[in-house]
Amino acid sequence: MAAEMALLKPISKFSPKLSPSPITRPGAKSFRVSMSTTSMPPKTSKKGNKKEIQETLLTPRFYTTDFDEMEQLFNTQINKNLNESEFEALLQEFKTDYNQTHFVRNSEFKEAADKLDGPLRQIFVEFLERSCTAEFSGFLLYKELGRRLKKTNPVVAEIFSLMSRDEARHAGFLNKGLSDFNLALDLGFLTKARKYTFFKPKFIFYATYLSEKIGYWRYITIYRHLKENPEYQCYPIFKYFENWCQDENRHGDFFSALMKAQPQFLNDWKAKLWSRFFCLSVYVTMYLNDCQRTAFYEGIGLNTKEFDMHVIIETNRTTARIFPAVLDVENPEFKRKLDRMVEINQKIIAIGETDDIGFVKNLKRIPLVAALVSEILAAYLMPPIESGSVDFAEFEPQLVY
Ligand SMILES: [Fe+2]
Ligand SMILES: [Fe+2]
Repeated sequence: MAAEMALLKPISKFSPKLSPSPITRPGAKSFRVSMSTTSMPPKTSKKGNKKEIQETLLTPRFYTTDFDEMEQLFNTQINKNLNESEFEALLQEFKTDYNQTHFVRNSEFKEAADKLDGPLRQIFVEFLERSCTAEFSGFLLYKELGRRLKKTNPVVAEIFSLMSRDEARHAGFLNKGLSDFNLALDLGFLTKARKYTFFKPKFIFYATYLSEKIGYWRYITIYRHLKENPEYQCYPIFKYFENWCQDENRHGDFFSALMKAQPQFLNDWKAKLWSRFFCLSVYVTMYLNDCQRTAFYEGIGLNTKEFDMHVIIETNRTTARIFPAVLDVENPEFKRKLDRMVEINQKIIAIGETDDIGFVKNLKRIPLVAALVSEILAAYLMPPIESGSVDFAEFEPQLVY
């Protein structure tokens, strides 16, 4: 996974806690962690050495799902839509392991990190932390899916395991980046301490597909921009994005194949509503997050809003090949709505930074949260674009269990 799979909760449960709170732990010592869920060392999380992780709606999340239902979905005896030769071919692709030798560091990293100072240094650290958490979130989910599906569908299970290999590599590489700043994310501690968001398998498919594809578009866009404007290449990690994002693209394609094998998740009116909901959640989350961190994007020579709109439009076009409905993000009204959400969100954040007592803050937030919800709802209700894979034209929808 590459993008932050942080999704807004269903609107009915919308909470007014929208302040930015990265998982920063200044002063944390550098230490290595194993990329295995069983050998994560809790002992590294000494009290006093760490700042508590503050969860907000915009923090990258960890996910869990109904693994029994997953097993049913991938049982080839039950689901005749599972195209085994397609998954075999995908497995071969993952086994090829194109990026096996790609993530090798050099001395440029530390030298570049030492040159970064002031607010840009801080914002770089935050970028590395958030990206590492998001990648690690993918690692945990895929590793567990690989483990749980082994008996039911060994091919799909092995692909999940190989994807978890990729995500571990990505998270590890980002964590090594943090070591250039004398920091490290305690992934073992994160694994145990963070809350896991439960999503039914169908929602895992939508959310993860989008997360992979949006991650691909973010990485490739940054890579291409810095290739054209090398004067902004202030830290070498971006040079790795070209091959790195191909991993994310492959992960997304695998989810695309998984969804095609579950046509009941793509071919009815509910699927259309959920598709739009997940597109909106992912786009809004990214837009609000990035607009709180314009210093980072400006620091590498990007205009944050232009960058985000480019990523949203491209992700939406890619997603339209598989989702039965997507948002009309190319309608200028969509961007206007996003910009209004940013304005409201900034006001909500500003309230959090005042000296008022909690009760007063909450009271002041109420109208703003209501305005934000109504803006999100209005964006959701904009006329959508009917989309979906042409493969489905001759697909007789059939319930498989
Ligand atoms: Fe990744
Ligand atoms: Fe990925």
